[in-house]
Amino acid sequence: MSNTTLMMIKPDAVENGHIGNILQKILSSGFQIKALKLTQLSLNDAKRFYEIHKERAFFNDLVSFMSRGPIVVAVLKKKDAVNSFRNLIGSTDPSEAAEGTIRKLYATSIGENAVHGSDSDENAEIESSFHFAGRERF
Ligand code: CMP
Repeated sequence: MSNTTLMMIKPDAVENGHIGNILQKILSSGFQIKALKLTQLSLNDAKRFYEIHKERAFFNDLVSFMSRGPIVVAVLKKKDAVNSFRNLIGSTDPSEAAEGTIRKLYATSIGENAVHGSDSDENAEIESSFHFAGRERF
């Protein structure tokens, strides 16, 4: 069990003006921000980030969506961060997400679901290294 995870506020939530509310909810849920930036993925970046999904039917939609506009990326710290953050964001499909979760509040569909959270400690490390240089994570 590690104490950090990687989160992204996806293009839909940035477009809809939810950056501030989502960061507020993360902080008030006890996460510390260890690294933070606004950036945009190229199509190629998105294909590399989501390589594990490349055989999925939704892959092209996913990478085109994730590269269509700015995103906010952060490394978050809390005890059992991966599981704790996945509980805070709710189910992938917002129609199945629990009341009060970030996806219930801000996501519009299974494809455009407002936020990403790492699904394992190993992927948290891979994804954090994808987005941040070592000196940016402390
Ligand atoms: P995320 O947790 O960022 O990681 C993979 C993403 O693929 C997921 O969020 C969804 O946005 C997307 N995804 C998963 N299942 C589907 C689906 N059935 N249709 C479209 N997009 C999906």
